[in-house]
Amino acid sequence: MNRSFPRPIVRRSVVPAVIALLLVGATSAQSLVEASLVEASPLDRVQSAARAFSTTLKATLSSRIAEDGLAGAVGFCHTEAPKIAERIGAEHGVRIGRVPVAGRQRNPANAAADWQAVVLAGFQRNVAAGAKPGEQIHVQVIDLPGDVSLRMMRGIAVEPLCLACHGRSPPSDALQAIARYYPADTATGFDAGDLRGALWVEVPAIATKEPGP
Ligand code: HEC
Repeated sequence: MNRSFPRPIVRRSVVPAVIALLLVGATSAQSLVEASLVEASPLDRVQSAARAFSTTLKATLSSRIAEDGLAGAVGFCHTEAPKIAERIGAEHGVRIGRVPVAGRQRNPANAAADWQAVVLAGFQRNVAAGAKPGEQIHVQVIDLPGDVSLRMMRGIAVEPLCLACHGRSPPSDALQAIARYYPADTATGFDAGDLRGALWVEVPAIATKEPGP
């Protein structure tokens, strides 16, 4: 059930109960939720938002490539990827997006914020030491800005599907479209299995309701 959250990377800032919640099913997590300071709802939102975002992106990407070819799919990503993030964030009451590893970005608007860059650098170190990109997880519930109650990041691995637009030798129609929309692109040259970046989710503090009377 929590397939997308395997083997969390435990950090100093992570509350153990949160990690436990990620490891056990929602039902058995209930008692942990009650026993912890963290409600189930923000975590549930984070997990389902992350799942919905990556599933939707991949599914729409595949169908766009099939229908419009690579150049059309690049244009689609350009206009629709930010909107998909916006819509899924709104549906789940979170902020959500993707960030690239340092120095390998396509859209400058996706550049990592400071906290994201720090977490990503940790993911890169883990991956360089042999860990799997898709298994990199960071969950944080303390030491956060006042308007944030929970932050999550999950590593994004390069898959064969991605190589057409992020690989070592993308076809020329893809390259031309990429050059048109992203003249300063540095997001090609990846191999399958590389760490491409991370998906991030933030739960705004305002969306975290205290259990009321
Ligand atoms: C059809 C071409 C295409 C394919 C295939 C593709 N991407 Fe992208 N990718 C893009 C475009 C275009 C953007 C910029 C989107 C934007 O403007 O926000 C992007 C942006 C990204 C970003 C955000 C960071 C950045 O550099 O802007 C990540 C992460 C990413 N892609 C990962 C992947 C992964 C993982 C796959 C495979 C599952 C994949 N992409 C497949 C075209 C593609």
